[in-house]
Amino acid sequence: MTEAAHVDLKLPPKVSGEKPDIGHMEEFGVNFAKFLLRCNQECGELAEFNMGGQQTVLMSGPDAQEAFFKTLDSKLSRAASYQATVPVFGRGVIFDAPPEKMKTQLKIQVDALRYQNMKNYAAVIAEEVDQWIAEWGDEGELDFADEFIRLTLHTACHCLLGKDFRLRMTDEFKRLYHDLEKGLQAIAFVDPYMQQPIFEARDNARARLQELISDIIAERRANSDKVYGDALETFMSGTYKDGSFLTDNEVTGLVIATMFAGHHTSSGTAAWTLIEIARNPQQAAEVVAEVDALFTDDQPLSFESLREIPKLERFIEEVLRIHPPLVLLMRRVMEDIDYNGTLIAEGKTVAASTYGSHRNPDFFPDPEKFDFHREKPDTLWAFIPFGGGPHKCAGNAFALMQLKSIFAALLRRYTFELVDPSDSYQDDLSAMVLKPSSPSRLRYRRR
Ligand code: HEM
Repeated sequence: MTEAAHVDLKLPPKVSGEKPDIGHMEEFGVNFAKFLLRCNQECGELAEFNMGGQQTVLMSGPDAQEAFFKTLDSKLSRAASYQATVPVFGRGVIFDAPPEKMKTQLKIQVDALRYQNMKNYAAVIAEEVDQWIAEWGDEGELDFADEFIRLTLHTACHCLLGKDFRLRMTDEFKRLYHDLEKGLQAIAFVDPYMQQPIFEARDNARARLQELISDIIAERRANSDKVYGDALETFMSGTYKDGSFLTDNEVTGLVIATMFAGHHTSSGTAAWTLIEIARNPQQAAEVVAEVDALFTDDQPLSFESLREIPKLERFIEEVLRIHPPLVLLMRRVMEDIDYNGTLIAEGKTVAASTYGSHRNPDFFPDPEKFDFHREKPDTLWAFIPFGGGPHKCAGNAFALMQLKSIFAALLRRYTFELVDPSDSYQDDLSAMVLKPSSPSRLRYRRR
């Protein structure tokens, strides 16, 4: 994308059905994935719609998506689009930090999710999964959407804040986390500072959480020779250019931001993977055979042993194609932009839809069909569950390792079948992160 010269530039085509004042909000609110598919079908690569006064241009197809992901923050700003996260992550953290500080904070966040901690995370996740299934017995029925939300909250807490915190994880912590989550409902994207009980609860929860995390930070500073191998350790040891450490507020913010980025994205994908396993027994049998062949004994799963499980990986990728947890990604246009002769004006929002892209029949023939043998598209920019470019998901490797660990453990021990009719398991798009509709019941039986 280049800066606009304003000569002979077209404007993006507008999506039909706009209503006075609210624009397309109503249709968007009913089922935004369906709405986005309609935008693309009607207008093509660029489609402009109105979100209660905020003009938004959906960019579809590999070329437009590549431009979306690769354009610099100074032109397409995430910070301006994600201001709702500021009271949740905290003042001065990520999207509220000056650009240089934000860059360092993101780098420290990426470091925490990199190789040096990954071995510990793999061990932690395997331990949590074993604990989780220890009580299952030979057979039973569970709502796995809920189960995976619980499991991945435990793994996230354990990997981020360490064993001691996880062992002492209280109902108070869960309540605080829940209050923070409620503070990121759709209304927060209109104005996160409105006088609303949910926002007051959010602010109280943020303050209390900082007290709890500050206690651990103080405890760790008093025992500075101990090694933890968790994300908190990386956050506490990271420094800005001038050598100063992050404040307790910033460390707390990074913990919350990482938790928010990784928790429901992982639990939703895990739940959908299990449903697709139960729904596609023939394809699942290939994955189970692979897992059986690779993990022949009862050794704990390690980082090394989880590295290559190609069929399971392809299966998870197909799950991420059909059910990408982050359906819609957004940026605010900070200066007029010329995209191939079309003006995208400053102040508008641009959006990319993973959900729509993954249903483009040019790249994914018969797109609603689950087929983990389907050919990969020959462009990088059609399959985008983790985004792309400089802000591609920092937890990509962590997420895949966690999913492989969960399913290597589960598939070796149990078989799964759907409890309800197959088509009752649908994408629930009512929250920020896609998940299977409730209930998502499955029956398990020991093999
Ligand atoms: C299946 C699971 C996951 C999916 C599908 C996913 C997807 C994504 C996507 C699409 C983005 C880019 C957002 C944008 O461009 O606006 C992103 C960013 C990010 N994700 Fe993930 N994510 C997953 C799991 C995780 C996990 C487990 C973590 C951490 C433990 C994590 C941490 C992050 C972070 C920190 C960013 C921001 C990177 C930056 O701003 O530079 N994600 N993720």
